[in-house]
Amino acid sequence: MDIKNVKGTHDIILEEAKAYDKIEMTMKSFAEAFCFSEFRTPVIEPSELFQRSVGESSDVVRKEMYTFLDKGDRLLALRPEFTAGIVRSFVNNKLYATRDLPLKAYYSGPVFRYERPQQGRYRQFHQFGVESLGVENVLNDVESLFLGYVILTALGLENVTLKINTLGDASSREAYRNALKGYFESHIKDMCDDCKVRYEVNPLRILDCKVPSDHEIVLGAPKMSDYLSNEAKAKFNKVLIALDEMNIPYEIDDTLVRGLDYYSELVFEYHYTSKKGVNYGAIGAGGHYDNLVEELDGPKMAGVGFSFGIERVYSVLKDDGLLDDIVNDIDIYVMPLSEKAKNQAFYLTSGLRTSGYKTEINLVDSKMANMFKKADRHGAKLGIIIGDDEIANGTVIVKDLAKKEQEEVAIDDLLDKVDAFFGEGQDECCCGDGECHCHDHEGE
Ligand code: HAM
Repeated sequence: MDIKNVKGTHDIILEEAKAYDKIEMTMKSFAEAFCFSEFRTPVIEPSELFQRSVGESSDVVRKEMYTFLDKGDRLLALRPEFTAGIVRSFVNNKLYATRDLPLKAYYSGPVFRYERPQQGRYRQFHQFGVESLGVENVLNDVESLFLGYVILTALGLENVTLKINTLGDASSREAYRNALKGYFESHIKDMCDDCKVRYEVNPLRILDCKVPSDHEIVLGAPKMSDYLSNEAKAKFNKVLIALDEMNIPYEIDDTLVRGLDYYSELVFEYHYTSKKGVNYGAIGAGGHYDNLVEELDGPKMAGVGFSFGIERVYSVLKDDGLLDDIVNDIDIYVMPLSEKAKNQAFYLTSGLRTSGYKTEINLVDSKMANMFKKADRHGAKLGIIIGDDEIANGTVIVKDLAKKEQEEVAIDDLLDKVDAFFGEGQDECCCGDGECHCHDHEGE
């Protein structure tokens, strides 16, 4: 077939899909433990939402949004990030007035940016993230930042580099903006066209420029830390003290400004170089925003959050061999030995499946040895073999595939046998205190 997937997209299939599921489940379970609740907002939003939030000076809005007119002539965008949609939902649903604050949301799903595809950079990719809305408190910022760190550690990543910076409050940013304007005034004619626009709209964005010749100029620019108000310095210090108290290592990076316009005060990124030496870029990033809720027509309320890029998290975990345990993990593999046995085996398989056992059946003609190889590839723990003799006797052969022990079991006793195997035979079972969820004790 000549039709290929769209440039910058990728199929997430088989083991990779399993790994994504595992990653997202880990992220969700920790977000739940931190009392965040799930939000599912639309993939399509009015384009204006991102113009007003992510900002006209960001590359995301200027160059990377997938926008289109729908049949009713509305200008829509495929979401290039989640934060704006979550805040829109918070405002539209008046959650600021009807719910306890902070309102803590987590989310996951696809996002779209028309970027140049390269390692770790896609046009359709996936994010998992959180937003905590409606309360101004440094510890709220630390809570989100800590959650991100805990998730990465739980996934097995050691030595994550947490880069943090502060963009200061409004007065600090105004003073810094003027300082940058003054500095870049004599350089801007020699800089890239994007920087010329950034100079007019938001000179802070110039610090993010990736053009090598501009980078030289950027290195000599004034530093944000020299323009922070006393209040902004004090707030940032509180974050650092909390991180020290919690033994979370961090690096202060005063060039970190982030690519989206809504941030103020704390910004941060999680970085990780995989054991293969590959750096896929930030695997997650976020920060605090003072004005976003108000800019989207809500009350004046602060927010904070972060998003992980699932593709990048997946890549570092894979490089580091931390996804190796994601194998096929079926419970039972059923092996009929004749055409006649296939029917019997099929009904029996259906019964095991409806009893909750992950069961696969071999319906293609295969030699016994091949069937055992397949059972092994599927990670099956129990094999069930049915031949013509067993049909005649009303039995099946049940084989513990790890111990290589087998016995003949009457079909009527099969489910009890399987229950006993999975209930009592598994290492993780803790029947001793009756608290476990093995098949024996489920529902007790
Ligand atoms: P962001 O830095 O634009 O922030 O994206 C967050 C993460 O998404 C990045 O750290 C990266 O892992 C991943 N990512 C970004 N672009 C791509 C791409 N083209 N391909 C693959 N992965 C990518 C935000 O989106 C903010 N909404 C984060 C936030 C939440 N700030 C506050 N709350």
